[in-house]
Amino acid sequence: MDEEILNAATDAVSSGWWSMGPRVDQFERAFAEYCGCRYAFAVSNGTAALHLALVSTGCGPGDDVIVPSLNFVAAANVISHTGARPVFCDVVGPCDLNLDPADVEAAVGPATKAIMVLHYGGFPCDIGSVLEIAGRHGLVVIEDAAHAPGARWHGAMCGTFGIAGCFSFFANKNLAVGEGGMIVTDDEDVAAQIRLLRSHGMTTLTWARHQGHAHAYEVVARGFNYRADEVRAAIGLVQLRRLADANRARGRIVERYRSALDGVAGIRVPFAAGDGDLVSAHHLAVVVLPDDGLQSAVRASMNDGGVQTSIHYPPIHRFSAYADEPVRPLPETDRVSGRILTLPLYAHMSDSQVEHVVDRLIEAVAQASAAHSGSNPRR
Ligand SMILES: Cc1ncc(COP(=O)(O)O)c(C=O)c1O
Repeated sequence: MDEEILNAATDAVSSGWWSMGPRVDQFERAFAEYCGCRYAFAVSNGTAALHLALVSTGCGPGDDVIVPSLNFVAAANVISHTGARPVFCDVVGPCDLNLDPADVEAAVGPATKAIMVLHYGGFPCDIGSVLEIAGRHGLVVIEDAAHAPGARWHGAMCGTFGIAGCFSFFANKNLAVGEGGMIVTDDEDVAAQIRLLRSHGMTTLTWARHQGHAHAYEVVARGFNYRADEVRAAIGLVQLRRLADANRARGRIVERYRSALDGVAGIRVPFAAGDGDLVSAHHLAVVVLPDDGLQSAVRASMNDGGVQTSIHYPPIHRFSAYADEPVRPLPETDRVSGRILTLPLYAHMSDSQVEHVVDRLIEAVAQASAAHSGSNPRR
């Protein structure tokens, strides 16, 4: 937080108009321009964006939606809330934690309606193959780009390949507002649905009525309150201007981690730098540990050394809430989920902080590996 953000928020509060109004409009226009797409709709959070994308593209009861299990649970929750069924697909493996197009193809069945891809950690998934599969089977593609604002696949922005792209502005995201989200599309009909359903299916909004552009409303669809507000839009506009620089700074830190850690003590750093056609947003700094059974010990030891870590993600198909779903074999997801570890990453991280994390990780992996092989002498 700094003066510019504080001033933007204060101006929005002082304007006297707090709900959706001119700043939201400005944020949407700026975001659409940034992505190079026709329409952008600010919403209350990324989960709302995903839900609106599904509902606005007609996903509902009787439909299957293919989604990677190595994912935030929001994706499966919103699929379930439409009445559709999440069908989990596998990831490529420890070097590429994005969905595996071959397994997406294998998961397609008679009830499949959509594929909801994730650009894991901000690294573009193989969206070309997904679009090809979707085209062949007549499926909708929705992009969960919560990690990927500013990521590019062959020159175009992630979030603009499917029929709708969904972003999150949660406090830990690359474009952080606290809570908030955005949904982008080039499709005029989908845009019309999103516009309606975001605000209860009402034909006019409070701001339009306040300005005297309308005096009444009709309700033409059963929608939601997924609206954004002026204070968040004001902060979002500042953060959007900073996004490209912040993503580059994150990228430099990820490359420092890579050069200090990849291949050291059996640690692997996935998503080796692409060929220039793949530009990551560097949302997460993930490493893959050398063995199963080290994750908890490494996390505990790093925590003792003052370094917070996390796991992206415990696979959704292992949660009790999803125990009733038919499980397809997901060998790579099962294999990597016990070995992944997310390291601290933020744009203003200093060199000495990165070094501290690197040192603590190497130390923690060495200790945990020694204890683990001691408890498994035949390994
Ligand atoms: C991959 C992914 N999808 C969806 C979401 C949901 O976004 P939000 O927390 O803004 O609802 C998140 C964020 O937490 C996420 O990381």
